[in-house]
Amino acid sequence: MRLKHSELASSAVKQAQYPAELLPQIALFGRSNAGKSSLINTLIERKNLARTSSAPGKTRLLNFYRVEALTDDGQPLRWYFVDLPGYGYAKVAKSERDHWLRIIEEYLRWDTPKLCWQLVDIRHQPSTQDIAMYDILRDNGFEVVLIANKADKLSKNQRQKALSIIAKTMGAPKDSLVVFSAITREGKEQLQVLAAAYLQQQAAGGI
Ligand code: GTP
Ligand code: MG
Repeated sequence: MRLKHSELASSAVKQAQYPAELLPQIALFGRSNAGKSSLINTLIERKNLARTSSAPGKTRLLNFYRVEALTDDGQPLRWYFVDLPGYGYAKVAKSERDHWLRIIEEYLRWDTPKLCWQLVDIRHQPSTQDIAMYDILRDNGFEVVLIANKADKLSKNQRQKALSIIAKTMGAPKDSLVVFSAITREGKEQLQVLAAAYLQQQAAGGI
């Protein structure tokens, strides 16, 4: 895939603020600090278009990044990366969590094609919230790609054990997990291939 252009198309809390141009979306789910915004920057090859922070809770709105690229054989691809606010940040108040839930539910109800990429930190057993998020997405009929992120933090030996724990906890096949690192860019190409396949399938379906 060859990137042509990326820009922030819209920052939204509610549907009226979503971008008017309808395009397929790849939406990033995961705990606060899991690395959603960093992954988007890596994939669109921009240093800090999606704002990142070591302080959890950086992304408070739904941000739509409009991306244009070409496949290796020259087919145009257009889509939004949707950077969603993270869940599971212990220090936020209940009102804030309710606000988060409203934003996510409204987004999921928006009847447009979405591929869900859910990030978990490869070093940790997924939380009950990770499992709940995964189940909500799948129960609502979304295709979910699970991404084990921050792979640079583990040795190759530790990795296999960590992937087994994640697969077992989430109830997903181990070989379906994508291993990723925004630092080493491991997994970038695999995700580009998955993105291109999804977007071409959507294009063939007529959106
Ligand atoms: P919220 O916006 O709070 O939901 O967080 P987020 O999921 O968007 O995380 P963000 O991309 O802001 O990254 C959080 C922190 O993790 C930052 O300090 C990043 O530099 C760091 N980080 C992200 N990806 C990686 C990675 O692959 N490896 C390592 N070592 N650190 C990473
Ligand atoms: Mg973020």
